[in-house]
Amino acid sequence: MSTAPQGIATTVPQGAPPVRHYLQFADFSTEEYHYLLERAAFIKNKFKTYVRHHPLVDRTLAMIFEKASTRTRVSFEAGMYQLGGSVVHLTTGDSQLGRSEPIEDSAKVISRMTDIVMIRTFEQTKLERFAANSRVPVINGLTNEFHPCQILADIFTYIEHRGPIAGKTVAWVGDGNNMANTWLQAAALLGFHLRVSTPSGYEVNEKTAAAPLGTGASSYQTYSNPLDACRGADLVTTDVWTSMGYEAENEARRTAFAAWCVNRDMMAVAAPDALFMHCLPAHRGEEVEAEVIDGPQSVVWEEAENRMHVQKALMEYLLLGRQS
Ligand code: CP
Ligand code: NVA
Repeated sequence: MSTAPQGIATTVPQGAPPVRHYLQFADFSTEEYHYLLERAAFIKNKFKTYVRHHPLVDRTLAMIFEKASTRTRVSFEAGMYQLGGSVVHLTTGDSQLGRSEPIEDSAKVISRMTDIVMIRTFEQTKLERFAANSRVPVINGLTNEFHPCQILADIFTYIEHRGPIAGKTVAWVGDGNNMANTWLQAAALLGFHLRVSTPSGYEVNEKTAAAPLGTGASSYQTYSNPLDACRGADLVTTDVWTSMGYEAENEARRTAFAAWCVNRDMMAVAAPDALFMHCLPAHRGEEVEAEVIDGPQSVVWEEAENRMHVQKALMEYLLLGRQS
């Protein structure tokens, strides 16, 4: 029989609350989003006024990237340091994940040494398998199916500029991809109208998003013509025609998506104070014209920065719960 010296945790403490993960937008309630969005504003204000906010001293974030990233890497890494914690960065190429170590084994090991994990990977099921074997909270940093941290930042950015998003109209122009699926979930939870215009064959998969097609808020409507989707919209948003992992379809997509380029005409039929967002990276001249993304209605740089502020609120919430 071995006795562990005091002070070394060998098991998860008895009676510890179940670990919360953030694998898709639907994992949190409307009420939790109201808290998180307010908390993100508080945390952003601290950052902007150079006031130290160190709730996560001695906590370590593991970041696992199986796909490329600029914003997600920098926002999580800088954000965790700003919260007083530290970061371990892993990629497929420089870890045993790339040499076929089972994701379950990786999860068991990594979650014994760190306090929270962010993963960017391919299938959502891979993220779910990691989470099922993790002792610590797991955050989705983008999968083929969802990108919840991005939509959290987008909604925060909308509210910062225009006030509450409930009852407003968001137009999605482009691929029925991870971003679109996540917008569907967000509309259902936060009560805004979502209009989705995709080329034929690239529609959102309603089953994946688990959100209903319908007519009111908390539902979405589809439009075959992107201009119709943008008419009167309070926010027009798009994303690349070809997401990471789908590069083999690039040529076919270029043809199919040619009319799904957010241009001056689309912004002209949107509400006069409509905003434009794009999660970035962007391809000017493909999914968006330069005059739109670089124009006065675009808030893409604030949107990118806000990734860091909302994710700091998210990590604090997952590790410490609600703060007064
Ligand atoms: N928007 C976003 O997730 O950007 P990166 O791919 O650079 O992380
Ligand atoms: N839909 C894009 C988003 C990139 C941040 C992708 O998955 O590649």
